[in-house]
Formats: sequence, structure tokens, C-alpha cells
Amino acid sequence: MATPSALSAALAVTALLVALTLTFADDEAPCTRRPVVFAFGDSNTDTGGTAAALGSYFPLPAGRAHFRRSTGRLCDGRLVIDYLCESLNMSYLSPYMEALGSDYSNGANFAVSGSTAVPRDRPFALHVQVQQFIHFKQRSLDLITHGHGSDVPVDAEGFRNALYLIDIGQNDLSAAFSFSSRSAYDYDDVVRKRVPAILSEIKDAIMTLYYNGAKNFWVHGTGPLGCLPQRLAQPRVDDSDLDDSGCLETLNQGSYEFNSQLGSICDKLTAQLKGATIVYTDLLAIKYDLVANHSAYGELLSSPQSVSQSPVYVVYSQPRSPMHVYVSTRV
Ligand SMILES: *[C@@H]1O[C@H](CO)[C@@H](O)[C@H](O)[C@H]1NC(C)=O
Ligand SMILES: *[C@@H]1O[C@H](CO)[C@@H](O)[C@H](O)[C@H]1NC(C)=O
Repeated sequence: MATPSALSAALAVTALLVALTLTFADDEAPCTRRPVVFAFGDSNTDTGGTAAALGSYFPLPAGRAHFRRSTGRLCDGRLVIDYLCESLNMSYLSPYMEALGSDYSNGANFAVSGSTAVPRDRPFALHVQVQQFIHFKQRSLDLITHGHGSDVPVDAEGFRNALYLIDIGQNDLSAAFSFSSRSAYDYDDVVRKRVPAILSEIKDAIMTLYYNGAKNFWVHGTGPLGCLPQRLAQPRVDDSDLDDSGCLETLNQGSYEFNSQLGSICDKLTAQLKGATIVYTDLLAIKYDLVANHSAYGELLSSPQSVSQSPVYVVYSQPRSPMHVYVSTRV
């Protein structure tokens, strides 16, 4: 089992993140600062937002591997965000909309499963999540101004030095590459028209957060869309689009294109937004390696139920915690 090396890699990532969070420390000694993280996104990051907002209940096997109960995560165990919190020695991020038992002293999680970047005003699109964050921040600062500072989990300095994590686009891309009832999607059309609109929302979210005081960003690229069983299970004319790993090449090309443009946007914004650090991570390469080299990660990925399934199903059909462990060690 890869746990010891996974752990050391996680600690290395932690060191990087701590350095990132503290690089812009004002005067205060770094070691006294509490890490604060605000997360935005979809089911890759949702730690119970959908359950809190819609009252949804995700029965086992969701939650069976670690929590041994349903936690509202669409995963059998912990997510990348959870491993990040563990390696920062902080509590798991509470969903912003969870009324009971929440602890926001290390930040809040605005991610909601199924969320998209476009259309922007529909709950709980990225823009709506960012608006919720602005409300959270404004309300915190108002309470501090009115003498209720002791009730407020994150102060102005906490907001300033926090890490802002964004992982969204998978549901947008998936929808863009959906077959309509009459015709197949047009790849060029999706790349020319749909992808720029999605990316423009992500850029807008980064800039809005920046103008609301955020400086440290961690932006995740999307995963290999063409390896999702959801897509592979759809009827197709023939298998000519399948690559050596059994994934749909055209859809993965869409993910590559999306990520490459997202990476450039992050570079441009880093140059443009004074004092901002925007770290972009290409999750596609990491997740695709898991699919392509699944036998090398056998123990990490296989389970009694998955033995008879194809590698892509092993990775994606029931999002498995070991995948998140592995991804979290690689990001
Ligand atoms: C977390 O706690 C462990 C054990 O106390 C310590 O070794 C590690 O340096 C801590 N990590 C951070 C990021 O503070
Ligand atoms: C699979 O593993 C080999 C050997 O470690 C590596 O060279 C290759 O890049 C991996 N494949 C992918 C798709 O990451």
C-alpha cells in the first residue's frame, strides 16, 4: 500500500501550501497563523454542501471508507480537499450552508455537487458561490465592526492570507459535450463557443475574489472527461474514438484544450494582478495516469466489486477515496 509515501508526499504539498499561504505574511511570525482555506467548486470538492442546501442524502457506499456514515460527500471516503486540511493540521472544511455543527475557523467550503460555471446566476454556480463568499466576508467584517468579533471565525487578516481553491468546469464540459436529441456535439463548436464562456466565468471569479482581497489562489484543471463511465456508457457508433486506455479521445482532447487555456489564463492573471499568486494544477495528467497505469496502482484502486470492471470504471464509477489520496499526493 502506498500510504507512507503518500503521507510524505502530502506533507511536501503541505509545506508548499504553507509557504504559499505565508509568503505574504505581514509582520506576524508565520507559525502563529491559523491556516484558512475557502473552496469553490463541484462534487470533486463538496464536503456536504448539496446535502445541506437541498436536503439530499447520499447513502452508503458514500462515506463507508473513512467516516463510516454519510457525510454528503459523493465519495466513499475523503476528498482531495480533506487531505489538504489534514496535512495543514486543520479541521475539515464545513460546508457554507450547513447550519448545524459547522466550524468556520479554518475557512468555509462553498462547493456544491453538480455545480457549473455557466449559467452564472443559477444556484449554485461558481458566481453564486463567490457571491456567497462575499456575503460571508462582509457579514464577518460587519460583526467585528459592531463589537461581535469574538463570534467571528475569520478576521480581516484571515481573509487576506487565506488560500482560495477553485475546481470547476467538469460539469460544464460534460454538458457541452452532450449529445442533443437530434445530433452529436460539434467538437469545434464546443471549443470555439462553450469553452471560452466557461473559462471567462472562472477568470471572473478569480478577479472578483482578488478585488475582494484574495491573493493566494489554487486553481485545478479538469479531469479526463473521456474516461468518465457516464460518457463511456453512452451509445456510440463504433469504438474508433477509444484510445489505448479505453477512454474517448475526442472528449479528452476537449479537457486538454480547456486545461491548456485555463493554465494560460492563470499565468496572465498572475502577471496582471499585483501581489497575487495563482497556482494552476493540471489534474488531467494525474488522473489519466491512474487510468492508463491502473495495474501499477492495483492495490490503490481495486476492490472486490471492481475486479471484473474495466480500469476506467475502477477509477470513476464509485469515486474512491484511494483515488483522492493519490491525486492529493500528486497535486
Ligand atoms: C502538523 O502536525 C504534525 C505533528 O504534530 C507536524 O509534524 C507537522 O509539521 C504539522 N504540519 C503543519 C503544516 O503545521
Ligand atoms: C504510466 O507510467 C509510466 C511509467 O511510470 C510513465 O512513463 C507514463 O507517463 C505513465 N502514463 C501516463 C499516461 O501518465
